[in-house]
Amino acid sequence: MRKVYLDYSATTPIDPRVMESMIAAFGSGFGNASSVHSFGRDARALLEQSRERIAEAFGARSDEIYFTSGGTESDNHAIKGIAQAAARSGKNEIVIAPVEHHAVLHPAESLRKSGFELKYLPVDSYGGVDPSAVERAVGRNTALVSVMYVNNEVGTINDIRSIGTMLRKAEIPFHSDIVQAVGKAEVSLQDLNVDAASMSAHKFYGPKGIGAIFIRKGTAIDSFIEGGSQESNRRAGTENVPLAVGFAKAAELVTDSRSVEVSRISALKQRLRTKLQQGFEGILFNGHITEAVPHILNISFDSAICPLDGDALIMGLDLMGVAVTSGSACTSGSLQPSHVLTAMGRDSRTARATVRFSLGRHTSDDEIDYAVDCLREVVGKIRKADSKA
Ligand SMILES: Cc1ncc(COP(=O)(O)O)c(C=O)c1O
Repeated sequence: MRKVYLDYSATTPIDPRVMESMIAAFGSGFGNASSVHSFGRDARALLEQSRERIAEAFGARSDEIYFTSGGTESDNHAIKGIAQAAARSGKNEIVIAPVEHHAVLHPAESLRKSGFELKYLPVDSYGGVDPSAVERAVGRNTALVSVMYVNNEVGTINDIRSIGTMLRKAEIPFHSDIVQAVGKAEVSLQDLNVDAASMSAHKFYGPKGIGAIFIRKGTAIDSFIEGGSQESNRRAGTENVPLAVGFAKAAELVTDSRSVEVSRISALKQRLRTKLQQGFEGILFNGHITEAVPHILNISFDSAICPLDGDALIMGLDLMGVAVTSGSACTSGSLQPSHVLTAMGRDSRTARATVRFSLGRHTSDDEIDYAVDCLREVVGKIRKADSKA
């Protein structure tokens, strides 16, 4: 059976050049980077070179890059670490967008349970946050604001630079989850005016299990994992040097190829949008048309015109070899509509009938055409079955 992968926002296949760099590092970098002997020093050198290369690729200083296990850990560290540090100066309000990834929402909710105030920002019908809404929401008691750069479900880009400029003047710490922006939008951490940012290597053809948190020099943040003095006392535990090497290689490759890839993938997305627009009744496009990354296209079927079961859509496509994601999350066996789509104003039945296509390096015109043909067949089958029921 033909297989078509259109779930690059969930994860990407590792680049062979990244794999090669890691295999070499599994040999030469096996030492413990904290050991003083030559094996340790060799591992330390590889680790610090990787940090420098990542900093260079993303416009930061190397002493502002801290390795973590990925986006989830970086988000947890930023939210809890910054809020707890600010609480010591009497600030206890956290301001976030309701469309954030669960790696931000859940730690913010836990802080609320431990006594912090949690304020949700309004979002527009594209899932975007207006910088002036952030300005209105913050105050003297704000410990932290977190707004994602690119939404992982619908691809809408937020104006992080403007939010950051305003928050810098107000001296309010600002974190942004930039996991879905790397390789797709401009990432120059100094210019973005963020105090902390989360990244994850497996979203841009790097290995799983490694990411980083950017922490601007001078930002007050508590350590997250306590133990040894690794990562300048912020994150204890023996560093995984080969993964850091792979992360650095992936960061360089994705930065170098960004403009070419963005234009190629934008053309593919346009092809997909046109075919979907022309071929399906009741189709709705989620997310901004222009202020969006090129690789994500999210659609729903309007429950008032074409009621469909989202699970059946995804399963039907999978049976035909097409890998996509729905906008829903399965919580204890019940299909919950996406919190992003409901915050954008979609009704829950429409939000459940959602498909997120995410395109990447190996996506071709032919794959787009095949996926649309499969979707047409699956929708036809579901509607036929429903009409008999
Ligand atoms: C926006 C966003 N933040 C955080 C994460 C979590 O990253 P990781 O898988 O590296 O933990 C993801 C992954 O889907 C994401 O899309």
